[in-house]
Amino acid sequence: MKKKKRKGKLLRSYRKEDFSRHGNSSLYGIVGFPLKHTASPAMHNSLFRFFRMPAVYIPIELAPHELKLFFPLIRILFHGVNVTVPHKKAVIPFLDDVDAHSRAMDSVNTIRNSGGVLKGFNTDFIGLRMALRDAFQLKIKGKDVCILGAGGAAASAVYLSLCDGARNIFLINRTFEKALHLAAGFAMKGAGITVVRRDAPEAEECVRRSEIVLQTTSLGLRIKDPLPVEKGWLRSGQFVFDMIYNPPVTRFMKLAKKADCRVAGGIDMLVYQGAESFRIWTGKKPDPAIMKKAVLKVIY
Ligand code: ATR
Repeated sequence: MKKKKRKGKLLRSYRKEDFSRHGNSSLYGIVGFPLKHTASPAMHNSLFRFFRMPAVYIPIELAPHELKLFFPLIRILFHGVNVTVPHKKAVIPFLDDVDAHSRAMDSVNTIRNSGGVLKGFNTDFIGLRMALRDAFQLKIKGKDVCILGAGGAAASAVYLSLCDGARNIFLINRTFEKALHLAAGFAMKGAGITVVRRDAPEAEECVRRSEIVLQTTSLGLRIKDPLPVEKGWLRSGQFVFDMIYNPPVTRFMKLAKKADCRVAGGIDMLVYQGAESFRIWTGKKPDPAIMKKAVLKVIY
């Protein structure tokens, strides 16, 4: 009984019936580690269903050493693949080409397979730009931006801030060297970024003077995580964006709300980066509302 129920759920998620009906089903997926809680399969499968496309999107959990084994299969079997933590940089040597944005960020989250030629893209910064516009009607141009964290998610925040003309960019991270390394990658292209250790006395001032605060660390994924800034560092009127989408409201977001900031979480960024990946693969412009509905179903 239980087995039958589980099979039904799998069929609904991955539309196995499409594989049996259409010999030419297209295969898409997301590569990452771990991948237990990803909402991307639900999001993209809802679009394939909407457009009545014989295609399916699956999660592919791969440890770093397995990437090399898997790439020949992508070339043969997959039309498109998303890439997530921790592989966004590691996949680049396996690709035939990357677009200018991915090259600047040294990070790929979308791979398109055109007849065996693999090209990498990065749609994260587009997702962030759209989400900021949606939530706050916000443009970065001329504003001071504070970015908390210096991992792969921070790279897209730094890149967007540079592309969209931020006045000052403050990069605050627990590990100073990691932030320095990230900033140095962009500095080569002529950009000025102030790097600050999270524990340094000037960290508070950098947060306070910024009109926009972008939270890109993994802090908040777990309930017991510490806050990425101290209580009292945020001030009224700031635009605060937390890239974490699950949970949809983090402790940091609650803190920002209490400080009378305008606050948004990462669900819309997830949706918009996914919409851009879908457009790159299929040429179709999807309705973000359909995608968001699928994401919310996974989260709640
Ligand atoms: P992602 O690609 O999702 O950004 P990542 O590269 O592992 O993931 O980066 C995670 C970020 O969260 C880093 O900025 C990390 O800080 P460190 O560079 O010091 O590791 C930050 N982070 C994770 N756990 C943290 C903690 N307990 N305190 C402060 N920062 C933390």
